[in-house]
Amino acid sequence: MKICVIGTGYVGLVGSAVFANWGNKVVGVDIDEKKISKIKSGDMPIYEPGLKELVSKNIKNKHLSFTTNLAEAVKESEVIFICVGTPSGQTGAADLNAVWTVAKEIARVMNNYKVVVVKSTVPVGTNEEVERIIKGIVGEKPEFDVVSCPEFLREGYSIEDSNKTDRVVIGGKSQKGINKVKEIYAHLGAPVVECDLRSSEMIKYASNAFLATKISFINEIGQVCERAGADVINVAEGMGLDSRIGPRFLHAGLGYGGSCDPKDVEALYRTSTDQAYDFRLLRGVMEVNEQQRTHFVDRVRKYFGNLADREIACFGLAFKENTDDVRKSVAIEVIKLLRGEGVNIRAFDTVAEKNAKKELGSTGIRYVRDPYEAVKGAEALCILTEWKEFTKLDFKKIGRLLKNKVIFDGRNILEAKKMQDLGFSYFAVGRGNLSRVNGAN
Ligand code: UGA
Repeated sequence: MKICVIGTGYVGLVGSAVFANWGNKVVGVDIDEKKISKIKSGDMPIYEPGLKELVSKNIKNKHLSFTTNLAEAVKESEVIFICVGTPSGQTGAADLNAVWTVAKEIARVMNNYKVVVVKSTVPVGTNEEVERIIKGIVGEKPEFDVVSCPEFLREGYSIEDSNKTDRVVIGGKSQKGINKVKEIYAHLGAPVVECDLRSSEMIKYASNAFLATKISFINEIGQVCERAGADVINVAEGMGLDSRIGPRFLHAGLGYGGSCDPKDVEALYRTSTDQAYDFRLLRGVMEVNEQQRTHFVDRVRKYFGNLADREIACFGLAFKENTDDVRKSVAIEVIKLLRGEGVNIRAFDTVAEKNAKKELGSTGIRYVRDPYEAVKGAEALCILTEWKEFTKLDFKKIGRLLKNKVIFDGRNILEAKKMQDLGFSYFAVGRGNLSRVNGAN
């Protein structure tokens, strides 16, 4: 099938490579010329395992091309995916300007029947508005259908997720349009949820908000565990084995970050207030998420008494492992809080360092490429991102290099017993049993 993908962010770039790899002829479009020439030369604008290889392979076999010429790309394609960004606007509601602009541009150059698929995460009613915009420009002919097909991939695992999706959600008014999109995904054999446009839009927000709720729930359980002397890791394991609950997204830590979950929870909250409904649970989810980072910094402060001029090594800058993305990264937020108290930071995250520098600058922060160099002479180590690589480091050596053998593990990724056997004061999140051993509570 001839497909055009507009927007080469995470969703669009991965989507175009994956669709091409499935045997379609795909054109990826972006207004950013620099980005397009970068991608064409094989230099990916984002870090995503396997993406570079997939893009190169499909450019070589002519299944995939990239352009800034939206008109040409739309004319040549049967199905057009809109994958532009929908960031949080000033009120917390999604900023849809890019979606409206692209819808108008598509309408102006449409030459025959097209299926316009909105893949960007958009609030309820957006697809209907896209339909109205296009209709307002093209009139009766050419015919077109608007279909909603939200994306559920995770950063860092996007190619794997695209090939092994749990479900495909396709919302629309016309069966013809729905069937075209179904055809693209048919070979995956995944369950397909066919529904109306509004429900499809809501499924995406409800899913991200539910994941965020799971995270905030386990973080609150962790707060109680800390006070009551229980261990959130055992509690999550015991809960997760109940098939009605499931083990995923029950990892207590510093809270959720990233370009999607925080923005989507906020946008859903806005949608509910716009509908004169106060979604109290979501308010709590957001509050708990903010509290996790301040609670972590409180704990570090409590240990030292005063944080001014302390030298602290921080491992992790990305919003989670396997990505260079630092948007709404809790690691960045924690570093900002520590800096606010006068802490000098040695930051280690080679993948996310470049993006983090733009967010954090360099005042009071030394970016170090070697983890052992980062901890040398530091007064404590904070783990801020759940990179698996951190668990494989030589902690005996780290213990020798640190000035104080103390670790604050904001992501609960290290083995507590091993750390304590190595002589560390090891503080984790929601692990009241450890805190008592360490004497922190
Ligand atoms: C999220 C959703 O998981 C995807 O399904 C969705 O497609 C995507 O947003 C999107 O809307 O585009 P992503 O932003 O890649 O994916 O990140 P997640 O894997 O959901 O992680 C979000 C945050 O929660 C991270 O900061 C992570 O560290 C944190 N987290 C995750 C926890 O603190 N505990 C957990 O148990 C899981």
